This record gives sequence, C-alpha cells and structure tokens, in this order.
Amino acid sequence: MADPSPELLSDHTTLHLGGPAGEYVVATTEQELTDTVSAADAAGRPVLVLGGGSNLVVADEGFDGLVVKVATSGITPDTDDPSCGGVLVTVAAGETWDDVVALAVDKEWIGVEALSGVPGSVGATPIQNVGAYGQDVSQTIASVRVWDRRLRGIRTFANAECGFAYRWSRFKADHLDPWGSRFVVLSVTFQFRLGDLGVPVAYAELARALEVDQGARVPARDVREAVLGLRRGKGMVLDEADHDTWSAGSFFTNPVVEPDRVPDGAPAYPQPDGTVKTSAAWLIDHAGFGKGYGAQQSGGRVSLSTKHTLALTNRGQGTTADLLDLAREVRDGVKERFGIELVNEPVLLGVSL
Ligand code: EPU
Repeated sequence: MADPSPELLSDHTTLHLGGPAGEYVVATTEQELTDTVSAADAAGRPVLVLGGGSNLVVADEGFDGLVVKVATSGITPDTDDPSCGGVLVTVAAGETWDDVVALAVDKEWIGVEALSGVPGSVGATPIQNVGAYGQDVSQTIASVRVWDRRLRGIRTFANAECGFAYRWSRFKADHLDPWGSRFVVLSVTFQFRLGDLGVPVAYAELARALEVDQGARVPARDVREAVLGLRRGKGMVLDEADHDTWSAGSFFTNPVVEPDRVPDGAPAYPQPDGTVKTSAAWLIDHAGFGKGYGAQQSGGRVSLSTKHTLALTNRGQGTTADLLDLAREVRDGVKERFGIELVNEPVLLGVSL
C-alpha cells in the first residue's frame, strides 16, 4: 500500500541523504514487487527499486516517482546433506547480504566469507558484482532471476550471461541506460562448496591480519572475524553512532589504466589484459585530500572519512549538494595531479558529478 505521508529517502540510504519519494511502497512478496513495477510502467511513472540504499546518492529534491522497497525474504538451500560437497542456495533479493554471509559461515557454505560486513541487500550484489578482500559474488553466483520490465516476464541469467567484471555486470550497464533499469532482481542462486575451511585467502592485507600466507585456507569463521575487524577499522561496517560509516562505501572505483600511467609509489595490481588497477584511495590521499578532508570547507557537514580517503561521508547535517561538491573537488584534484579520471561507484539518482 502507498504511504500517504511523504517518505524521505534520507531514511533509506546509508549516507542519510536524499529528499522525498513521490510514492513509497514496500513489497514483501515477489508478486507484489512485479505487480507494483508493472503498474507503474504501464502508467509511464518513473520507478526506483530500492534495496539496502547503501550504494545510492539521491538528490536533495528527492525522486518524483514510485519508490519500491524490496523486502522479499527466503533463503532456500537445495540440500542439507553435507556429503553432496556443494549446495545451491536461492536467496530472495530483499534479504540482508550480511545475514546471508553469517548463515553461510554457520552452515559451512564457503565462498563469501571475505564479503562479511558489506552493507546492502542480496538483490544489489550482482548489479555491481560486490567484492572485497579477494572475493566477489561472481565467483559464487550460479544464476540471477529477474523481472524484465521491457518483455514483462521473468528471466533467469546464468553466471556467464551476467557480464560480470570488476564492479560491473550487465545489470549495472542497464542502470546507466536512459530507459531506466530494465531488470529487477528477484532472487540470486549461489553455488557454494561445503566445508569449514574458507576458499584460499587472496588479499595480502587479509592474509596479514590472519597471520597466514596468501593462498592459505583457514576456517571461514576466522576469515569473517578478520574481515569484520579490517572493515571496522576503515569505517566500512555500518554503525549509526559513527559518522565515518554514513557513506556509500567506496565513492570511486579503482581506476584501471595503462601501466605507464600509474604514479610512482602507487599500488599497482596487474590485470590479465596487460592493464593495471591502481588505488583511488592512494591517488586521493596523494593529491592532497587526506583522511577527514572537506570538513573545514563544508562547515563540518561532509568530509572524507577520517578512516579511509575513498569514503565520502555525511557528518550529520550534510546535503547531497555538499557531498557532490566534495566529490567534484576530489575528482578534479586527482585529475589535475595525476591525469587520471575517477569514476563514481554508487548509483546517482537525479544528480550528476
Ligand atoms: N589508501 C590510502 N589512503 C587511505 C586508505 C587507503 O592511501 O586512506 C591506499 C593504501 O595504499 C591501500 C590502498 O589504498 O593499500 C587500498 O586500500 P584498501 O585495501 O582499503 O582497498 P580499496 O582499494 O580502497 C577496495 C574496494 C572496497 C573493499 C576493499 C577491500 C573498490 C572501489 N573498493 O577498496 O570495497 O572493501 O578494496 O577489498 O574496489 C566498496 O566497493 O564500496 C568497498 C568498500
């Protein structure tokens, strides 16, 4: 049912930013979700499909359309027989991602333990191919079931059809399409191996925290604890009391450039195609925007996180306009200093950089 009083999107984003929704509907079943989106499409109304709001920057003016909050639930494994060696688990889009990771660790479903503490909903994870500490969801997603708004029907994309790359998928490409996002994720099926040891530790910082060599396998619950510790230290685990976590996570993607464009001293991760991924956080820091930068310029309303330069944060009284001013200053400063163009990672709604 529609809510008669205007719902503020600032109450639904981890940045705590964004103006009113034209209409706000909570869909608790798949049927409600597809019916609501279809009705809005038939009426030619713009639709925002809202998950956890952790990767979203909404205009201060809000969104004059229909906001559908995905609140579907259900986590369904195809077997509980440990001798199978593997399990397919279908998860409704509205489930909270970290609850699924916690359950996976508990049930010894391995492959997502390094993605502990990532905010947001399950339905959002395939869109930007959520990744951290050496894992990303493309490594465990078997298929993604969606509502196709153009064909008005349910479709299933196998992993190979999802177009997964670093922070990218066909669904993300679609989010940038002027037609509006074509696919609404309904559920995601993961294929997990079974066992108490996690997959080999692939991230140097995580291996150091666990005091093992990179490539070692350790109990998944230890990986989860270590990742939660690392993320907390960077302000990347949601905590209402800590303004460093009032963010959309990393505000920019890590740039992938030709090897000769990487500045001296910057982290460099060679890619299979000969390019190199460098660190946006390092570039920002070394272009003169240290941790906490921007507080003075904005009257204390927004700043870079005091724990990590890649997170732009709302200090409590900020606006989306303040945040974007800071984002532009940082982007332009990095471009001027290093000639590298930073690209925003969160979805921008009704605003641009
Ligand atoms: N660094 C700085 N200053 C800082 C922080 C970091 O110079 O304030 C430099 C250091 O050299 C550090 C390097 O940046 O070694 C990389 O930092 P970090 O290991 O924290 O990773 P990241 O590249 O900044 C990425 C993801 C995160 C993910 C972590 C861990 C992107 C855009 N971000 O961050 O994902 O949690 O790796 O795997 O790929 C997100 O996407 O929202 C996100 C939080």
